[in-house]
Amino acid sequence: MPDPSNLQSEFKYFSAEVFTNVYDGVNQIKMPKSLMILGFSNDKDAAIPVRHDNYIFRREVLRDLLAFLRKPNGDALFITGPTGSGKTSVVNEVCARLNWPVQLLTLNNRFEFNQLTGHFTYSSQKEGGAPEMTFQYGPLAKAMKYGHVLVLNEIDLADAGELAGLNDVLEGRPLVLADNAGEIIHPHPLFRVVATANSCGNGDGTGRYMGVQQLNLAFLDRFRFLEVGYQSPDVEETLLEKTVPAMKPVLASMVRLANEIRTLFSEGRISLTMSTRTLLRWAQISNDFRNSPNALEYGLQRSLLIRSEPEEARAVLNLCETVFGDAWTKNSSN
Ligand SMILES: Nc1ncnc2c1ncn2[C@@H]1O[C@H](COP(=O)(O)OP(=O)(O)OP(=O)(O)O)[C@@H](O)[C@H]1O
Ligand SMILES: [Mg+2]
Repeated sequence: MPDPSNLQSEFKYFSAEVFTNVYDGVNQIKMPKSLMILGFSNDKDAAIPVRHDNYIFRREVLRDLLAFLRKPNGDALFITGPTGSGKTSVVNEVCARLNWPVQLLTLNNRFEFNQLTGHFTYSSQKEGGAPEMTFQYGPLAKAMKYGHVLVLNEIDLADAGELAGLNDVLEGRPLVLADNAGEIIHPHPLFRVVATANSCGNGDGTGRYMGVQQLNLAFLDRFRFLEVGYQSPDVEETLLEKTVPAMKPVLASMVRLANEIRTLFSEGRISLTMSTRTLLRWAQISNDFRNSPNALEYGLQRSLLIRSEPEEARAVLNLCETVFGDAWTKNSSN
């Protein structure tokens, strides 16, 4: 248990000015100056995520996330939303600005609870030294000990039975490391748990996300929820413009195409979708090849179409001609 008298020097309150690029719907807003945002004073911890100054925050997502980090009231946070919409990155970018270290693990169907707690392993203390058996703390143990944010990505891919091992710590109880002589780790006051997933934990009724499992109700009951959808078209265009300004003339059409594809995907009419991640990749590749005659199509093939069914790729290319008009034929070899 951390010594409470040391905690004052560990905490730091940040003014809202650390958050630039905050948007409310379509407009950029200024965060209220009076806000005092909790974080850490030490900015040297290796587990603090890397900050990207161009990152764009949505007011309502930021508000919920900051409220949770400051005062979780015993809850964990479940962030749900479509692929590549900004679930994982928003946690990293917020923590980067607050010097809040993050322990991140992406789960899958082979996940076992002891990946979170730790294990004994042979390692040497210095190069070429004889190895010794030592206990390596897992991400949960580290996060609880030092007050880090534990981010569990794709939590709905993990087996509900293995996740049940988290129930006690989500209730605020200490973690007992039976393997490490029964070491007891009490939760640091700044320990937080955030899960991200494409579903809300109730399984994927649409069949669009492979491997999604239904989570246990008692487990889900320990979370508060936050939905992160794609940005509004204007904000997504701004986001692209900050990363690839040279593509400005076609960015509005690229965002329009992405939204058309998302609508077709949500209606179950095609099996591929275009996330913000893919959209950025498309803009970047097209920009890198901007002097070739078919840069937009070349970028779209490499960012999305090569991995899709041929007939779906053809449908998307037809859609491009409608959305981009002359700009498509000018930029494309067709
Ligand atoms: N608001 C934003 N500002 C800048 N870039 C963004 C923003 N949202 C998403 N991105 C970009 O999109 C990428 C994908 O975001 P992120 O990894 O957070 O998605 P995700 O919702 O966690 O996706 P998945 O469900 O696939 O895990 C990021 O690496 C970042 O480049
Ligand atoms: Mg993610």
